[in-house]
Formats: sequence, C-alpha cells, structure tokens
Amino acid sequence: MTDFDESWGFATLGVRAFEPARGSGEHSAAIHPTSSFVFKTAAEAAAVFAGEAPGNVYSRFTNPTVQGFEQRLAAMEGGAACVATASGMAAILSLCLATLRSGDEVVASRSLFGATVNLFNNVLSRFGIVTTWVNLTELDAWRAAITPRTKLLFVETPSNPLSEVADIAALAELAHAHGAKLAVDNCFLTPVLQQPLKLGADYVIHSATKYLDGQGRCLGGAVVGDAQSVGKDVYGFMRTAGPSMSPFNAWVFLKGLETLALRMRAHEANAMALARWLCEQPRIARVHYSGLESHPGHALACRQQRGFGGVLSFELRGGRGEAWKLIDATRLCSITANLGDTRTTITHPATTTHGRVTPEARAAAGIGEGLVRVAVGLEDIEDVIADLARALA
Ligand SMILES: Cc1ncc(COP(=O)(O)O)c(C=O)c1O
Repeated sequence: MTDFDESWGFATLGVRAFEPARGSGEHSAAIHPTSSFVFKTAAEAAAVFAGEAPGNVYSRFTNPTVQGFEQRLAAMEGGAACVATASGMAAILSLCLATLRSGDEVVASRSLFGATVNLFNNVLSRFGIVTTWVNLTELDAWRAAITPRTKLLFVETPSNPLSEVADIAALAELAHAHGAKLAVDNCFLTPVLQQPLKLGADYVIHSATKYLDGQGRCLGGAVVGDAQSVGKDVYGFMRTAGPSMSPFNAWVFLKGLETLALRMRAHEANAMALARWLCEQPRIARVHYSGLESHPGHALACRQQRGFGGVLSFELRGGRGEAWKLIDATRLCSITANLGDTRTTITHPATTTHGRVTPEARAAAGIGEGLVRVAVGLEDIEDVIADLARALA
C-alpha cells in the first residue's frame, strides 16, 4: 500500500493516494461487502474489539473499502481524518450531534441547501441547539450574531443556487477568536477547486452524492477535519448511531475520486461557456456564476478558489410561469434536483430544493420564482446551449 506524497497534484492524489492493499493482486480496488469480520481466536477478537490490536470488527464501525475512500478524500482535502456517512445530510447531522450539545448556538449562512436549513431549524432546535441566520457575504452580520454560546459557524461557498462567495479565511479567524469552529460544505467545488481546511476552516462537509460520484448513482457523505473532533468524536457518533456508508457506495466514490480532477475542469469549462451565452440572452435578467467578472464574489473567488465549478443559476423575466415553461421545453437537460452528474440537470429551486423553506426565508436568501439552476454536465456544451436556446425560443 502506498499512502501519498505531499508534492502530488490533485489528479495524482485522486488516482494514487492510499491505494488499497491488493489481497489478490487486483489492480482496481476490491469491494468488501461484509457486515462483520472474522478472528482466528477469542483473544484476537477481544484485542481488536478493545482497540488494542488493528483490524476490522463490523462494517458499521470500519470497512476496508470505506476506509480507502475516507483516506483518499482526507488526503485531497488536506485533513487528518475523514468519516464517511450514508448521505451528505448524515454527514452534517453527525458533525452537529458529535460536537454540539443543548444550549450551544450555531451561526449559519441563509444560503444553505434546503434540507440543511430544515435540519437546523426543525430538528436540532428540538434538542436545544439554536441557529441564527446571516447573509454569507456580510462579515459584520456574522460577527454580530456570535454570542458566548456560539460553537459552530456553518457555510456553503459558493452558495446554492446563487454562487455567492463567503470569505473562508475571515470566517475561520472570526470563529476562532470566539472559541468556535467553522464548517464549510465543499460539495460544489470539491478539493480540486477549493480546500477550506487550508484556508483555516475546521471541518469540510461533502455530499459525495454530487461530484465525488460524478454519475448520479449513489448517496453518500463525509466529514473531514482533525484527528480529535472528526477522527474520534464524529467517528464515535457514526459508529454508535450508525449512519455509515455502504462498502459498495464507497467503492463507487473511490473510483469517482480517480477522475475528479479531470471532470471538475470539464464541468467548469462547460459552465463558463454556458454562463457567457446566458448573459447575452435578452429574456434573462441576471446570471449567477462566480466565474463571471460581473459577479460580486468574483474577486474573492479568484483568491480562494482554484476554479468556479459547474453550477450556475439565472433569473428569467416573468417569474415562475416562465421558469417552468423553459424547464418543460428542454429536451436534453434532465429535470432533477441532483447535481454533479455527467448529465446537465435543470431545477426550479423555489419549488424543489428550497420548496420546504419558508417563503420569507427563501426571499431573504434571494431565491426568486423566476430563478432556474443549471448544473452543467459533460455533454458537448454546444448541445446544451442549443437545448436552452430552443427552450427559450
Ligand atoms: C450543498 C449540499 N449539501 C448537502 C446536500 C445533502 O446531500 P445528500 O443529498 O447526499 O444528503 C446537498 C444535496 O443536494 C447539497 O446540495
């Protein structure tokens, strides 16, 4: 088994970091679909169970395929530890339940994925964890919302679906000055285009369901961070509560990491071409993509990101009726909420991903009825543009 070399680039890390042990000489990683592991003697079982000897016990705790994915993702994010989970939401839940307790407060960006907003507002609130919502680009609002009880700052950047950019280094400094931690949901850019831990963040969240898979096949998630709070606390929660990743899904994600660097660059090239074309369409009032020079977060994005990713959104003049008409008229784009797929997906955020968020919260997050999100896939971009041109016409 090789681990990895600090000098490797992202493509090499994705392909080679922590190559799994080759039990049968196989070149491609094996899958270990087993619920438990067997021991030669009772004494060996006791030692492994007690953590006094290395080895696997039960796949809710550890599994070699899952560990292969965790180690490689940790290497790519620059983290000491990674815990894989059954979904992205399970990753956020595990981080919060492992590191927060009743009476603690969270300050979170208003522009989070809808289910994350619901998790903080409707689930964690029942356990005495209070969340204050702020605009992600307003550092003064974050500062004003912090109290002595604040333990966690939570942000997605660039945000979904408006591509707003939060200053990760400034938020990390602010959190640490108040004894709190910063978690960054990095699923839109992946470590290939942004490494939040290197900018000072404490935790990285992934919905592996998105680009890490890359072909829309499996649900999964991950928390990456330090050896104590992720390697011990989040791992301990996951092992006890059980939102573990399945070995098959881990294998799909491990294979996904091997092409991640290549795919992220291709998604981005397509998204940039589409964003520039959309800007020229008279029926479109505004295009949101941090790669555009006109985007308010562009300068910051250039400083902290290595690229702008594959997701953009735009506002159609005419509200929901026009947005739905456009979406229904596409033939190539898939009408689905997922993103990070080889196939271009088109979504109406106000009635899907953010449909269960209150209308007031949606309005505060800037998600209007005419907004359409496109997660640009890996088709020839001329064909995606032709599809949208026909739908617009
Ligand atoms: C930014 C972001 N974070 C987290 C999630 C949740 O991930 P999952 O669907 O894997 O639970 C999503 C899902 O769409 C997302 O877009």
